[in-house]
Amino acid sequence: MLIRRARKEDYAAFAAIEAEYPGYPAWGEKGFEAEEKNRHSVTLAAEEEGRTAGFINFWILRPQVQLNTLAVARAFLRRGTASALLGKLLEYAAKSLCREIDLEVNEHNAAAIALYAAHNFEVVGKRPKFYNNTDAALLMRRVLPAKDL
Ligand SMILES: CC(C)(COP(=O)(O)OP(=O)(O)OC[C@H]1O[C@@H](n2cnc3c(N)ncnc32)[C@H](O)[C@@H]1OP(=O)(O)O)[C@@H](O)C(=O)NCCC(=O)NCCS
Repeated sequence: MLIRRARKEDYAAFAAIEAEYPGYPAWGEKGFEAEEKNRHSVTLAAEEEGRTAGFINFWILRPQVQLNTLAVARAFLRRGTASALLGKLLEYAAKSLCREIDLEVNEHNAAAIALYAAHNFEVVGKRPKFYNNTDAALLMRRVLPAKDL
């Protein structure tokens, strides 16, 4: 699997992955494109067998990294793609001297919560009615020990 910086040509594939998950807060092609103007923003693509398997976007806001969106195409689930994308985020965090990774996840999104728990994220808060004024968001955080920097 190859993890690399995203390019304009990837955005249609990212939007197609988002469309596989009805209800997921989708950015659409325009949303990904808009991130190019944000100097804190990093978007990465995962490539597998020459196909776009997934993406991640995060903001480096030293001393924190904010994970904004992460998804893997259904055809590639449970092959470690999300873990590889998260691993790359952690590399960026360490290089940028960021000690804290923060994210919000829908309280009903068991797959994502399991993924983050497997990567040592902990629930540190809850935002009621965060999604479409109904579902709550869990705030999850991973703090990196100083030795990882
Ligand atoms: C959540 C998501 C990104 C996981 O992607 P993935 O590439 O399948 O995840 P990985 O293969 O790296 O999984 C790593 C670990 O996470 C956990 N995990 C992932 N999906 C899981 C599921 N459906 N059920 C239970 N645990 C799961 C497991 O511990 C897994 O390890 P294992 O396969 O050895 O058991 C994917 O399901 C997805 O794109 N969902 C829709 C978008 C979304 O909800 N994104 C999260 C936004 S906050």
